[in-house]
Amino acid sequence: MSDVNGRPVIVLVGPMGVGKSTVGQLLAERLGCGYRDTDDDIVAAEGRSIADIFVDEGEQHFRAIEKRAVHAAIAEHDGVLALGGGAILDADTRALLAPHRVVYLSMDVEEAVKRTGLNAARPLLAVNPRRQWRELMEARRHLYTEVADAVVPTDGRTPEEVAQAVLDAL
Ligand code: S3P
Repeated sequence: MSDVNGRPVIVLVGPMGVGKSTVGQLLAERLGCGYRDTDDDIVAAEGRSIADIFVDEGEQHFRAIEKRAVHAAIAEHDGVLALGGGAILDADTRALLAPHRVVYLSMDVEEAVKRTGLNAARPLLAVNPRRQWRELMEARRHLYTEVADAVVPTDGRTPEEVAQAVLDAL
């Protein structure tokens, strides 16, 4: 697998809870490169949790911070990069992803409800997880697909199997 101009080797997109961090770290180990996650970058830079940013300043403010974090990571990182689940909502970010090798890790709604449950740390699922998941997936599925070079379903697969499927797909 060759490098894209010294830029991220693989960019992982997909909904929260799909396993981007776990699979991304496995991929980085397998490829012998670094792993970076834009959610971690945001938490480190802000010194508070993502849930706190949502509560204190709202989603719109979080999206502005997230956009800067994603653009910085894409410019700087040359390993595996995982983006927060909503990063692809931004049209500039989607355009920025075009020259990169992007993999969409997908899962169906029931799998999503099962995996994330009633996790209060995920501000977008605080009220009615199943309905909110359905709405999120309907609003975003086409955006994930639009930016992706490959779609790798994760339902019923272990992180190791997903990582292998990503490598096979590229
Ligand atoms: C979000 C996904 C989260 C985090 C924030 C918003 C989203 O990232 O950025 O809670 O809009 O889907 P993960 O996908 O890494 O959980």
